[in-house]
Amino acid sequence: MTPQEIKTLRDLMEYEAQRTAPPEGFPRLPDIPAGRYTDEGFYALEQAEIFKKSWLFAAHLDELPEPGCFIKWEQAGEPVVIVHAENGDVNAFYNVCSHRGAPVVTDEKGRRLRLTCQYHGWSYSLNGELQAIKDPEDFGDFDLSCRSLSSIRCERFGKFIFVNFDPEAVSLLDWLGPIADEWQEFQFDQCRLSARHSFDLDCNWKVAMEANTEVYHVPNIHPTTVAPLLDHRRNVNTLYRNGHGRMVAPPPRLNGSEDAASTRDVGARAEIATVGEIARTCIQSYGIFPNWVSQLTEFVLGPLLFWPNGVNKCRIECWTIAPDWGDGEGPDYWTVNRGESLCKILLEDTEFGTEIQKSMESPGFKGVPLSYQEARIYHWNQHADRMIGLDSIPSELAVEQVINEDWVYPNDPRLAQITK
Ligand code: FES
Ligand SMILES: [Fe+2]
Repeated sequence: MTPQEIKTLRDLMEYEAQRTAPPEGFPRLPDIPAGRYTDEGFYALEQAEIFKKSWLFAAHLDELPEPGCFIKWEQAGEPVVIVHAENGDVNAFYNVCSHRGAPVVTDEKGRRLRLTCQYHGWSYSLNGELQAIKDPEDFGDFDLSCRSLSSIRCERFGKFIFVNFDPEAVSLLDWLGPIADEWQEFQFDQCRLSARHSFDLDCNWKVAMEANTEVYHVPNIHPTTVAPLLDHRRNVNTLYRNGHGRMVAPPPRLNGSEDAASTRDVGARAEIATVGEIARTCIQSYGIFPNWVSQLTEFVLGPLLFWPNGVNKCRIECWTIAPDWGDGEGPDYWTVNRGESLCKILLEDTEFGTEIQKSMESPGFKGVPLSYQEARIYHWNQHADRMIGLDSIPSELAVEQVINEDWVYPNDPRLAQITK
């Protein structure tokens, strides 16, 4: 982050603290329809138009460090195998043999010279080409070259492996846009995978994710955990294209002037030297559309992934990726006893999920009125509708497109209001 960008963020923090209403020109946000959390039809649209067309964080290179290493990945509902090829590329394929559909790998992870289907022994290279079949003479004139494994887009940001089921999707870098540059200081290409744990929750996946997409809840839900670290009135939200967002919140002021410390002690033992002032002194978190929310600090990259498992069930995946800590166990930012339970902060965030889902399914729930502080949630929903297609959503489930490009980075009408 340049000194000018840091100054702008600091100015915006003061602007947020001093305003007595939403910024001039910021639209009033219409209610989010209740059915977006409960309707099977809307869930099907999300699956088809969002999860099959967005870049999804699937794996970390440390899980498949050498050529030949593979992992099975089924979290997005399709059978996928991710493979480290001989030339260093990481490939993703449907885990579906071109013969009669058996999986080409059955173990969760492993290392192979080739991917050999156990049913009739067809074998594929690490690039997915069909290399050998048994008794080829019985297939007559048979062209192996048209029977490769069906590939899936797979691109990396550093050691972070993303997949996209849409062959027409823009590149991962285009998808991330300016965020890819902002992330350079965090060394996604160097940090090691330290912990990855999953927990199933009984609520719509957006209920769980949205608790991590605003700071309005912090004083109530986290009075002793997050509130001492974060001044929610000075939080600065930034909206990016493609539905992404960022929050940067400084710590509360001690004695009315000096900022308190903002970093949570998680027993990390190493630092990412290149991390700049904002991430070191504030709570900074990115929402990457559709299902990634990550705190990024000088000690840890901590993506939380929210995966739909049906309209009223989801899985939260808690990742800790950290600079090289040497030998032994690395830090675990999100869980207690290496995955035994969620940490206190996430227990607080998820505390009401089951009850909220029940409420949302009742006639008592009409919709969600969002405040300016919760604008990132609205921005996410607007982009969701654009991906689904504004003409494809039943009107009672659609959100109005009220936040226009003026509010999407690098545009920001607040800046003009600061200099007034
Ligand atoms: S199904 Fe894979 S070899 Fe027959
Ligand atoms: Fe929270």
